[in-house]
Amino acid sequence: MTGKVTYVAILADESIHPQYERALEEVKEDLGREWPMYIGGKETYTGGKFEKRSPIDVNILIGKFQRGSGEEFSRALDEAIKAFREWSRLDWKDRAKVMGRLADLIERDRFRLAALITYEVGKNRYEALAEVHEAIDVVRYYVDLIHKVNGFEEPMQSPVPGERPVSVLRPYGAWAVISPFNFPIALAKGMLTGVLLMGNTAVWKPTSEAPLTAIMLYKLMIEAGIPPGVVNLVTGPGESFEDAIVANPKVAGIAFTGSRDVGMRLYRRFTQSQPWPKPIVLEMGSKNPVIVTAKADLDKAAEGVVRAAFGYGGQKCSATSRVYVQRQVYDEFLNKLIEKTRQIVTVGDPRLRSTFLGPLINKRAQDNYRKYIADAVSAGGKVVYGGKVLESGEFARGYYVEPAIITNLPRGNYLWYTELFVPILLVDTFETLEEALAKANDTEYGLTAGIFSEDPNEVQYFFDNIEFGVVYANRRGGATTGAWPGAQPFTGWKASGATGKGVNGPYYLLNFAREQARTVV
Ligand code: SER
Repeated sequence: MTGKVTYVAILADESIHPQYERALEEVKEDLGREWPMYIGGKETYTGGKFEKRSPIDVNILIGKFQRGSGEEFSRALDEAIKAFREWSRLDWKDRAKVMGRLADLIERDRFRLAALITYEVGKNRYEALAEVHEAIDVVRYYVDLIHKVNGFEEPMQSPVPGERPVSVLRPYGAWAVISPFNFPIALAKGMLTGVLLMGNTAVWKPTSEAPLTAIMLYKLMIEAGIPPGVVNLVTGPGESFEDAIVANPKVAGIAFTGSRDVGMRLYRRFTQSQPWPKPIVLEMGSKNPVIVTAKADLDKAAEGVVRAAFGYGGQKCSATSRVYVQRQVYDEFLNKLIEKTRQIVTVGDPRLRSTFLGPLINKRAQDNYRKYIADAVSAGGKVVYGGKVLESGEFARGYYVEPAIITNLPRGNYLWYTELFVPILLVDTFETLEEALAKANDTEYGLTAGIFSEDPNEVQYFFDNIEFGVVYANRRGGATTGAWPGAQPFTGWKASGATGKGVNGPYYLLNFAREQARTVV
């Protein structure tokens, strides 16, 4: 395997800029066209179409895509079931080889993919490129891992003389994979790697906000040698697929990353509709807290919070959305937070090198932002930074907003408990660390959380008492964001995840296989 590229290295590498800027021009040849979906390797067209436009500027047509529905899902599932026979019987080393090739191809096309992500979902160049590298590394991490554990084959001991038992992991069958807009490559690739590497096949339904990125990734999968039918790509609005996904008894499992509402609905309907218990791997939202104690390095804390709250407009399940600051450093921290936001969070066209924060994903997100700010103010909250929707001049044709910092929001207000997925940060105070932990844990979610304190005892207390799956101390680059394959298993607790075996980590692949005990005499 080639060496891993870190986010820090990407940021520091001057040579990325001309390459990315060239790719911004090159991908234009893919924009504005009609694209099929892919069932059993065949280009498939439907009567209905939908358009995807860029959130940067709605005059940029990303493309026209097929408006598929349950019928296409069922056909695609039949193709995936057909392909399962051969794919599942391949030696795991052969599957790993194909997946390794895929990682190399994603790396070959990394600038084009990053440029496309910018056009399609509005990420700035650093976030887009980092995401592509996250996708490369997630594939390589699991290819390395499966070699390390010898394909999960485990010799066992029998008390009966002459018996040679062995535990092996076997795939389930054809899965539905549903991926979100905010990491259109990395999160799709995490789920698809788990499904495919373990010998399952897939019908992949990507978000309608990023269908072209999905198509480009699909094409690379075919180029890498994944047989047609092993992965099928259907496009269209989620609602038109849902009935077919949950009720089709031939679905072996569901892997879903997205909102809690949709995830829980799928979970309830799937468990009720199926003839026996089947795996459903859900990665859902969160409401991530950061604690800043009086023993924190306040500069580091302010920068870490700003990057995690406003990176990609807070449209990450890992985004920081609540900060609790120890009373005696509250004023000083708040001033630093405002100053760092002013310095770091430049709003603009994400194609520009100088832009930190591009547009939100769509009009609904922009409308939500407006409503949340108004609701906070009418409840007594104080907007101490930003808070405006940007609609004129250079911003008129996209979905731009200012980053917002809100204080004095009464406890119990719904904004403390709801995942907002927009760049709004709520700030509150605490007296004791115990109180801070109680506030941080006062949520149904449990994905990422952070603390800033230079006192190891405080950090240890935080780790021992926080009810979140991914926890960080003193992270300047992003207080709660930036989990990386092989480094931070992305494990959601409570309403953030279903299985407690997160992508990026050593146990994730177990979600996609069932054990078989084989005994030979
Ligand atoms: N790795 C991303 C983060 O932690 C999410 O996939 O922000």
